[in-house]
Amino acid sequence: MYITETFELPRNASEHVKEELQFLPPSKLNVDRVSKTFATRTGPLKALDEVSLQVAEGEFVCLVGASGCGKSTLLNMIAGLEKPDSGSVTADGLRVTAPGRERLVMFQEAALFPWLDVLGNVIFGLKMKPHLSRRDRKDVARYYLELVGLSRFEKSNIHELSGGMKQRVALARALAPNPRMLLMDEPFAALDALTREQLYGDLQQIWESRRKTIIFVTHNVREAACLGDRVMLFSPHPGRIREEFLIKLPRPRDINSIDLAEYAGRITRSLKGYKNGNGGVAE
Ligand SMILES: Nc1ncnc2c1ncn2[C@@H]1O[C@H](COP(=O)(O)OP(=O)(O)O)[C@@H](O)[C@H]1O
Ligand SMILES: [Mg+2]
Repeated sequence: MYITETFELPRNASEHVKEELQFLPPSKLNVDRVSKTFATRTGPLKALDEVSLQVAEGEFVCLVGASGCGKSTLLNMIAGLEKPDSGSVTADGLRVTAPGRERLVMFQEAALFPWLDVLGNVIFGLKMKPHLSRRDRKDVARYYLELVGLSRFEKSNIHELSGGMKQRVALARALAPNPRMLLMDEPFAALDALTREQLYGDLQQIWESRRKTIIFVTHNVREAACLGDRVMLFSPHPGRIREEFLIKLPRPRDINSIDLAEYAGRITRSLKGYKNGNGGVAE
């Protein structure tokens, strides 16, 4: 166990802070034949049908598919926010039945507290760590604000920030409790292309430096190919995983590279095939 080389700890940081910033081994996940049906006004709706997924320690896996194919439902189950009708979700050998701080979710809308400043929002993520003093929490929060490039803005109000900065705060807040798995549900979908590109680079760097298992939901195929070691393609009605793509490109990856476009093209062709209901064969 050691502290990251890239960022300096605050001077006089306590032992608690050092311990808090230690690397924890990333989580391993096993989703085994999970199904989920929702009751809707128009009758039962099968959101997930026997979905299985294994994720290795430290892997970056993207879930892509058209809207409504069960990506968020699966992510919420992994987070422990939703229960499967059948099948099981296991993280590091333990059945997931409730949310836990080893697995934290970051949503599309940065659910930040407008009455707290930037630092206050990140500190809030540390509420569940009673052994940390106020000062310790500040030190830990500042470490993560530096990691996401927002040190200069710790006293800013949330409403003064751009969309990209808000998502950076949300990322720092999700990282601060040192989860072993990070679950991200379309976190960049509302941002403009340039802001997103910057965040792709930064997220890859953070993933490499903090070594998390990441499960990332998106409907943006290029984004998935840019970020994932693996891309799982879903099809809707009922939600199923239809295909898996290994993205064998070196990192950091550039979203505009030709190699990446080739992968994205392949995934898109499959995606269109499933949408057209011909079993994935689009050509
Ligand atoms: N709580 C719920 N009640 C009823 N239907 C739901 C609920 N949550 C999701 N659904 C339905 O389940 C399907 C899958 O939803 P979701 O997982 O949000 O898809 P995605 O994230 O891929 O867009 C959708 O048709 C959605 O309308
Ligand atoms: Mg969704």
